[in-house]
Amino acid sequence: MYEWIKIKDISEHEGEKITLKGWLYNKRSSGKIHFLQVRDGTGFIQCVMVKSNDNGNKFEEVDKLRQESTVIVKGSVRKDKRAPSGYEVEVEDVDILFNPSEPYPISKKSHGVDFLMKHRHLWLRSRRQFHIMRIRNEVIKAIRDYLYDKGFLLIDSPILTGSIGESTSTLFQLDYFDLGKAYLSQTGQLYLEAAALAYGNVFCFGPTFRAEKSKTRRHLTEFWMIEAEMVFCDSECNMRFQEELISYVIQRIMERNTADLEALGRDTTVLENTKVPFYRISYDEAITLLQKKSFDIKWGDDIGGDEETAISIEFDKPVMVYNYPKKAKAFYMQPHPEREDVVLCDDMLAPEGYGEIIGGSQRIDDFDTLLKSIRDNGLSEDAYQWYLDLRKWGSVIHSGFGLGIERTTAWICGLEHIREAIPFARTIYRIYP
Ligand code: 4AD
Ligand code: MG
Repeated sequence: MYEWIKIKDISEHEGEKITLKGWLYNKRSSGKIHFLQVRDGTGFIQCVMVKSNDNGNKFEEVDKLRQESTVIVKGSVRKDKRAPSGYEVEVEDVDILFNPSEPYPISKKSHGVDFLMKHRHLWLRSRRQFHIMRIRNEVIKAIRDYLYDKGFLLIDSPILTGSIGESTSTLFQLDYFDLGKAYLSQTGQLYLEAAALAYGNVFCFGPTFRAEKSKTRRHLTEFWMIEAEMVFCDSECNMRFQEELISYVIQRIMERNTADLEALGRDTTVLENTKVPFYRISYDEAITLLQKKSFDIKWGDDIGGDEETAISIEFDKPVMVYNYPKKAKAFYMQPHPEREDVVLCDDMLAPEGYGEIIGGSQRIDDFDTLLKSIRDNGLSEDAYQWYLDLRKWGSVIHSGFGLGIERTTAWICGLEHIREAIPFARTIYRIYP
């Protein structure tokens, strides 16, 4: 009797007397009835309290509860077609553990984004955020499961690094004791390459830092990236792996997060369509396409956010843009065997205007080519001695990629802005809360 259960399991307890422990999310009253929306972190449920001769005092006390009171509700579960979850709880008793002394700042009326971001510590309790965080959780779990199933070994890469992984323009720098400058990691890739030559296929998953000075809907200064590195694997093999992975992730979310997608009002047509093979266009073709769309872009330029959006809306599932100009990409990418100015790489663009969610490439495996690229890019040879070593012993064709968790989650959820896809967003304008 009155077993403590979680709201997510409510359907298993129809007709039973149960206990819920949670918080008052919303309250509506009509004279003799309180409709209490209760949340317990696993879901939301309507609890109905009817005034009777026996519960008069309690009924009055509950009437005074503010939003985000802490409560223990006892009652019985019944099926109700009108309730959003299909069930509701007929309340027999409410224990009031805590009633806030001030009104809750986030009310039902709509608030501006700035207000909500300032109250992110509380905003997380809202229904919409609940569904987004659940999808984010499943995206991460699906990728991990997929990689483990394929035999990848998890290798945690360092956050404090001495060698620059991506670009000098977005580095967070700090003084590192007597050893000069250190940087917050922009990628785990270089360390993952070392691990790949030790253990074969490997992956890492961690926070990544970029001092992005631009204010866009797809850039964070701290984001989470899953990176994989594969040996005896060229760029083609890398692209095939990426599309299989994304295809799997989308299917998992469609299966396990149906209710979350529905609650977010996500039109899932494109997600349903996201099955291998994805589209592929070369960088050259992408430039032609953009020029046709009147973009002021020429061969050799990097493809920016607006351009990615323009490309991705042309496709009804992800598209991989491959083989960029060398000068638009990082120093470690393998040159094209027949075109010296082009590197073997790919960016996967999510459809519906979302743009890049994965960046990947084949890595330079020849010592001299890498040394030249390090020099050409003005990087310190000393800092990269260890990375060059990997080309001295046991060098092999290898490739890998990095997938941004927030960008992927934002696309799957259909979010307008990446800031809702991470619990506490860090951007150029935001470090609070
Ligand atoms: O394309 P990027 O910069 O690739 C790398 O860092 C490679 N070293 C990965 C590798 O090959 N192991 O970043 C990879 C992904 C992007 O496609 C994007 O999804 C995400 O990381 N990303 C960001 N997400 C949010 N905010 C930012 N500022 C991001 N920068 C990159
Ligand atoms: Mg990229």
